[in-house]
Amino acid sequence: MSLEDRQNKIYTSENSQELTDYYKQWAKDYDRELVDDCNYVAPEKVVEVLSKFVAKNAKILDAGAGTGLVGQILYDNGYSHLEAMDISAEMLEQANKKNVYTALYQKVMGEPLGLPAESFDAIVSVGTFTYGHAPSSSFDELIRITKPGGYIVFTLRLDFYESSDFKQKMTALEEYGKWKLVEVGDRFSPLSTAKPGGYYRIWVYQVS
Ligand SMILES: C[S@@+](CC[C@H](N)C(=O)[O-])C[C@H]1O[C@@H](n2cnc3c(N)ncnc32)[C@H](O)[C@@H]1O
Repeated sequence: MSLEDRQNKIYTSENSQELTDYYKQWAKDYDRELVDDCNYVAPEKVVEVLSKFVAKNAKILDAGAGTGLVGQILYDNGYSHLEAMDISAEMLEQANKKNVYTALYQKVMGEPLGLPAESFDAIVSVGTFTYGHAPSSSFDELIRITKPGGYIVFTLRLDFYESSDFKQKMTALEEYGKWKLVEVGDRFSPLSTAKPGGYYRIWVYQVS
């Protein structure tokens, strides 16, 4: 199956079950198809931004960790207190093989996560806030489990930000004093094959 076919399927998933079924089929080929074949640069770009704000000894949750590409790059950059969370058991199985996470959680963002409040110094999420994936309501729980003063760093597709309720949710959270926007980066293409709408921006918020 081509990457475009896979993306069409995952972006149009109608529910969590459908989405996890697609990722179950993709898990073993994900790294090869994205990194080797399509030069997937989003994880390294996000780690570059995160490292401006987050100390090396920070406890970091990789939310929507997938196969652990972000965790691997964080680890290679000196971060070692890393935990992974994903909806897909098969993606987490691949992430576990990288031996960079100290804990892995199979959880659904958008639902209560069951993790203690103020547990993490930072949360990173790459490629997980997009069509058919984690909803904007995920931020409520992510903020709850981040320590005050901690950071939430994530990517958003430009077209998705404009067309979804994310813009409204992110602004409302700032108005309610839950977090503060620290930085929003320039657009970049996460893949060598990305089409115009597929550009990302990296957002950095500091939890209040
Ligand atoms: C495009 S992949 C990105 C994985 C990894 N962050 C990366 O950059 O390679 C999106 C990941 O988000 C996970 N995901 C999607 N919706 C989710 C949800 N509601 N809760 C938790 N994980 C979710 C998927 O299972 C998948 O592993």
